[in-house]
Parts: sequence; C-alpha cells; structure tokens
Amino acid sequence: MAILVTGGAGYIGSVTVELLRARAERVVILDDLARGHRAAVPADMPFYQGRVGDSELVARIAREHDLESCIHFAALADVGESVTEPARYFDNNVRQGIVFLDSLLQAGVRRMVFSSTCATYGEPQQIPISEDHPQQPTNPYGWSKLFMERIMESYDRAYGLKFVALRYFNACGATRELGEQHEPETHLMPNVLAAAQGRLSAVSVFGNDYPTPDGTPIRDYIHVADLGAAHILALRHLRAGGESERINLGNGQGYSVLEVIETARQVTGRPIELKLEPPRPGDPSRLVADAQKARTLLGWRPAYPDLAAIIQSDWNWRLRHPEGYVSERKD
Ligand SMILES: NC(=O)c1ccc[n+]([C@@H]2O[C@H](COP(=O)([O-])OP(=O)(O)OC[C@H]3O[C@@H](n4cnc5c(N)ncnc54)[C@H](O)[C@@H]3O)[C@@H](O)[C@H]2O)c1
Repeated sequence: MAILVTGGAGYIGSVTVELLRARAERVVILDDLARGHRAAVPADMPFYQGRVGDSELVARIAREHDLESCIHFAALADVGESVTEPARYFDNNVRQGIVFLDSLLQAGVRRMVFSSTCATYGEPQQIPISEDHPQQPTNPYGWSKLFMERIMESYDRAYGLKFVALRYFNACGATRELGEQHEPETHLMPNVLAAAQGRLSAVSVFGNDYPTPDGTPIRDYIHVADLGAAHILALRHLRAGGESERINLGNGQGYSVLEVIETARQVTGRPIELKLEPPRPGDPSRLVADAQKARTLLGWRPAYPDLAAIIQSDWNWRLRHPEGYVSERKD
C-alpha cells in the first residue's frame, strides 16, 4: 500500500517525502513541476510528472500502486499572484482539486491530509488564532483553500472521505539537502538569506507603520521539518480511524519582519540591507497561531521553536547549495 504525495517536488512536500522515506513508508509522487524541482525528489522514487486534474493519470497511478491515502500539497500558493490571476488559482487549486478528489474516491482512497493555510482566516479578530476563528479570506488564494475545506466536509458526509486540513502559518527553514526555492520568491526568509548571500542587493520591507512594536508585520514561523512531522501524525490519526479535523500548525510565537532580519544578521554574520516599500494591500499586522490542538490531538511537538535555529538551518542549506536546485520553471 502506498501514499500518494501530490506536490512532492515542492518545498514542504519534498521535506515530508524525506521524512516518510526515513520511516520506510511507500510513497508515490505526482507533481507537474510548474513550481517544484525534480532534483528535490529521490531518483529511485516513483514519480509522475502531471497535473492532479488529470483523472486518467491519477487512475493509472492508483492501478499501478495500490494507494491507501493521499497527502495533497499540490497548489499554486502565491498570494499576490492569486489577486492578479484568480482564474488560474481557482482552476488549479479548486477545479483540479475537485477532479482529483473524485479520482481518489473512484480509486477507493478515502484518507487525505490537505495543505490548508492561515490565509483562510483573513484579517484576524483575535490573536492567537484558533481553529474556530471565523474564516473570511482576503485573497483568491485563501478562498481557494477554504473552498477545498468546505468541499471535503461535504465529501466526508456524503462519501466517507476522512481528511485532516492542516492550516500552516509561515513555513521556513531547511533540512540538510532540501530547502526553499521559488521563482519568483515572495517569502521573507529566503529573500533575507539571498540578501545575506549577496544574491539580492536588499530585502524589501513592505510598510513600517503597522500597530506592532517596531511597525512591521508579525508572523508565526514554523520549521518545514516540523510541518512534515505533523503530516505523518495526521496520517496516523486517519489510519487509526480518526474523524476529519482542521488543525493549525505554528509555533504560537510571533516575530516582526525587522526581528527576522536582525536575527538573520546575527546567524549569518553578514550585513543585510533593507529597502522600505509601501505596505501590501490585505497584509494583516499580526498572524500568530494557537497551535494547542495539534499538540493535544496529534501529540505534535515542534523540534525547532527557536527562530535563530530555523534561520541557521536554512543558511546551512544555502551554504551547501549556493545555486539551489538546478531545474527550470516550466510555466
Ligand atoms: N509555504 C508556506 O508557507 C505555506 C503556508 C500555508 C500553506 N501552504 C500550502 O502548502 C502547500 C505546499 O507549499 P510549498 O510552499 O511547498 O509550495 P511549492 O510551490 O514549493 O510546492 C507545490 C508543488 O505543487 C506542484 N503543483 C502545483 N499545482 C499542481 C497541479 N495542479 N498538479 C500537480 N502538481 C502541482 C508544484 O509544481 C510544486 O512542486 C501548498 O498547497 C500551499 O498552498 C504553504
């Protein structure tokens, strides 16, 4: 029996695959490589290049691998891009997502760990944000993930699909061989470290007049290996016959943009210039998780709660792989 990992050539997916492999789980990867890297997938692992909305391909994978569950990372995940290209986001994340769910059910697969996001909450009404916080996304990306959560709830009631929607806050950090590389990169941590490497002349800071102690937005940073570990625990929950759940994944601690930059200066010992830019519309001032449910329900304990340790892991990866993955973006 195998686990189908969609988006397994991407950042969080590839790290989760590494952890699954270390536990001797059988894994099959489906990724269209629109944003992922073939080099992030072990050469000897079953890999299908294609889209989750390709029902014939998913049926073939199911025939060839006896699937028992799915971890569904595959999605487009750039908030700004989703505002300018909503049709593409709804097509990729929702239309293809529905076709994919139907293909899984056809193949008898009824366990799904789903990558959701804190972007489904929208502007926070209270901090920290718990799972029962109202969900009112402020961009098409957040809506695309919320639609998928709602669709899976209906599929649970009607067809017995059991799912865990993991709502991640800000993923960051690296393992020894796997790190974050997007093209273009919109996430803070890789850009801060690209500036430390001298690959960027300065890091853009979008606004310094937020109602926070230093005026820059506060986010909850969570190490990618801690996210990966939570997926394995969520799968264990489903395999044990657990009910569908929605669970936040964060450290429960917030750091401002300026704190991240200053910590990165200390970790790397390099000067990091910053460039002040206008605030981005819809950027909340503070996003911090209440991640208690992950601890009590899944027994999850983040191994990297410390910001400096997270940055150090990413910096080590960049020192070992100064050019990153050598693969081309295909779209
Ligand atoms: N990075 C974060 O901080 C963060 C936060 C919250 C949620 N998420 C979610 O986690 C998941 C993984 O994020 P990531 O940062 O690893 O992104 P990523 O872009 O590195 O990985 C996504 C992978 O999915 C693939 N993909 C996209 N659409 C596909 C399709 N239709 N068919 C097949 N493959 C497809 C891409 O090629 C890529 O390899 C995404 O669903 C994202 O929305 C990420």
